Amino acid sequence: MTAPTLNRRAALTALAAAAASAAGLGYAAAPGDAWRSSYTPHNGPLKAPLNSGPLRIEGRWPAALQGTLYRVGPARRELGGVTMNHWFDGDGMLQAFRFDGGKVSHRGALLATPKLKAEEAAGRLLYSGFAQTLPNSPPLNGPDTLNPANINLLSLPASRELFALWEAGSALAVDPQSLEAKGFKVWSPDTQGAPFSAHPRVAPDGTVWSFGYMPGTGRLLVYEISPTGQLRRQHVQAAPQADMVHDFAITERHLVFLLMPLKYAGTPGAGDPLSHYHWEGNSPLVVLLVDKADFKVQRFELPATGVFHLANAWEQGGTVQVRFVAQPDILSAMKQMNVNEPRPDKGSRQTQWTQITLNPATGRAQMQTTGLNNVEFPRIHPLRNGLPTQFTTLLARSSSMDARVDGFDSVLALHGERQQQHHYGDGWIAEEHVYVPSHLTATEGKGWVVGTAYHWPSERTTLSVFDAAAIDAGPIAQVTLPYGLPLGLHGQFVAA
Ligand SMILES: [Fe+2]
Repeated sequence: MTAPTLNRRAALTALAAAAASAAGLGYAAAPGDAWRSSYTPHNGPLKAPLNSGPLRIEGRWPAALQGTLYRVGPARRELGGVTMNHWFDGDGMLQAFRFDGGKVSHRGALLATPKLKAEEAAGRLLYSGFAQTLPNSPPLNGPDTLNPANINLLSLPASRELFALWEAGSALAVDPQSLEAKGFKVWSPDTQGAPFSAHPRVAPDGTVWSFGYMPGTGRLLVYEISPTGQLRRQHVQAAPQADMVHDFAITERHLVFLLMPLKYAGTPGAGDPLSHYHWEGNSPLVVLLVDKADFKVQRFELPATGVFHLANAWEQGGTVQVRFVAQPDILSAMKQMNVNEPRPDKGSRQTQWTQITLNPATGRAQMQTTGLNNVEFPRIHPLRNGLPTQFTTLLARSSSMDARVDGFDSVLALHGERQQQHHYGDGWIAEEHVYVPSHLTATEGKGWVVGTAYHWPSERTTLSVFDAAAIDAGPIAQVTLPYGLPLGLHGQFVAA
């Protein structure tokens, strides 16, 4: 092969594409624009449900790893010649990877929300999104008119329910087997159509805590829900600068909200909200510590930083400990998530694994970065929300990752002071990996870490299983789909 004008990266990309082609994978993206396919692969038809399996397993599938990994993310961004450019502005697509008796299969389907149905009936995208205003967008009948159900999932095993979550509207009930949308959940008449977070927290006893934020209102709506989906309490909480609150944490006694100084000065429902946010760096990061028993609040202030995701929080020796990923430049980061442009080089995108100590007795709060940077998507043991945790999985971005491609190329496990990492390599984008404990006990560090990664030169998605105690040894089992999936956001594992 002679390619004197190609640089090393382009040459590697061309080789990977050639290898994929030789392996019978069919489509291989052109090296110059292959990064673009990570958001919407050319080979993954979005309209029809995707089905494949049993898939060929490389390595040895752990016999005890049985259940379904559900994932969801923004997928369809084009219809009838109308295109949305922001990663978040895609209709939700649900993926189900089933692990059954040593066989692995995949099913994927776009979620038939009212938005999707209205736009399919019209033959084009109709509604403005998070980051883009469409002209002549029809009038809204509340936030759920726009709800793409594209961020996360909530599983209630006790009632065999599964919900696909946005954060500005209702939870969408979906059939865990067929993946069909069943309609928006009404927790109570008072909260019908109200925002429900994409990051509810399930306590070890199965109680679901969630919240909703309404930009510009100075209020949070708090939900306490039983393990079988009955609303126990709802509470309207006064909250300053609660204009974008993506995640929160619980402890045994408290709810913890990190309220960043990202302020909204627009009119809800009038065009895209993102252009109406601004950063007020002289204002603090406000921490609200809310007593679960009576919703009494203690307020703390810390230096301004942004936040999408918290890992966990817990009570410890009279303090409250919080672990989260700081996003100092969160507004620029969101504005740069354009799927039709390469990732810009400019601007600080460095995220920081960070710890907070709150002392309710003295009213003091301290925040410390740890030196671990360029990480996101923290996940913990699913039965340890609100309990002390030593084991966290994260995605990490290595310095060698292609500068044009947004995202992460490695999975990392922190266990106390120990750090282990697996680097997927050139051409790969890792999606969120979840920790699946091997036994239904709260012991940490045993079991598996499971997640997907997208290989953009060949446009294929691979699911990998790692021994949670030996991430750095690489996957113990993998399956590769005969197509690529659009890059998604979050997932939940539901044991068989
Ligand atoms: Fe999230």
